[in-house]
Amino acid sequence: MLRKKILALLSIAMLAVGTAGCKSDASEPADPELLLGFSQIGTESAWRIGNTLDIEQQAENYGVGLMLENANQKQENQIDAIRRFIAYKVDVIAFSPIVEDGWDNVLSEAKEAGIPVILVDRDINTEKSDLTTCLIGADFYKEGVMAGEYLVRKADSLGLDHINIVEITGTENSTPMMQRQAGFLDAIKGDERMTVLESIDGDFLKSRGAECMRHLLDTYGDEIDVVFSHNDEMTIGALPEIEEAGYTPGSDMIIISIDGGQEAINVLKDGKINCVVECTPKLGKALMETALKLKNGEEVDRVIHPEEQVFSDEQDTSLIGPRGY
Ligand code: AHR
Repeated sequence: MLRKKILALLSIAMLAVGTAGCKSDASEPADPELLLGFSQIGTESAWRIGNTLDIEQQAENYGVGLMLENANQKQENQIDAIRRFIAYKVDVIAFSPIVEDGWDNVLSEAKEAGIPVILVDRDINTEKSDLTTCLIGADFYKEGVMAGEYLVRKADSLGLDHINIVEITGTENSTPMMQRQAGFLDAIKGDERMTVLESIDGDFLKSRGAECMRHLLDTYGDEIDVVFSHNDEMTIGALPEIEEAGYTPGSDMIIISIDGGQEAINVLKDGKINCVVECTPKLGKALMETALKLKNGEEVDRVIHPEEQVFSDEQDTSLIGPRGY
């Protein structure tokens, strides 16, 4: 049967390009109802690793054959992976675009091949709305708004009259970077107490979070009242720098993070982070259900946002349960 041949070829081909981080799942069903090609961005954060694990787990739960490729943070690897998925004639392609621009050509090829494409986690910038079927991912703008609203409440409760903010952003031109920044700025807009001293690209990486924080401390020192970091990984990188510079995060500086992974939640419980806006990586179930619908020719929602919440020092943090990522 053609599908069995494709899966056999797939295993060989995926192993052959192992340096690009490909994975062929040994537990993959021999003849799945649906073959899904998924290009993951990389392993830059606990969030990303949790997202990959969730997608693998849900593929197994739904009996979906998963071709998973890790792009190691490179857009060109994602484009190559999508081309391989087209060549293998998968039923559905899904991918998490590292940045928003530059996808029209490869997605036009998928469209020509008649393969539906699902955006997972992040969006793309295109004038051609028919290149993708839907987006399954967080409302990043709302996350930024929730972070900004927390800061306004915190400033009120502390009676602060002037607040200097530094922002460590995620990867430039990525959806979470642009939307979280926009939401945060909109939430504090018009509040005369707030000044953003500097916004710096931390690329969602722990090492960059540390580098950015060192630069910010060297430049602004004790002028800094608030650190708004676009993900937990960069926050965890920044905290030791703050302590080494002689400040206590959580009290000398208000620390706001996004994701809600276990490590950051533990630090929130210790009082060194003040607020963590949740961004759930658990998108696998919605992805499998949507891909199966597309395979069966059913209509799907254009945008699927998971429910998310805010964890902060405004609540009894001892009640926050295990996060699972
Ligand atoms: O796109 C989601 C973001 O990407 C998460 O906030 C971050 O941790 C990840 O790297």
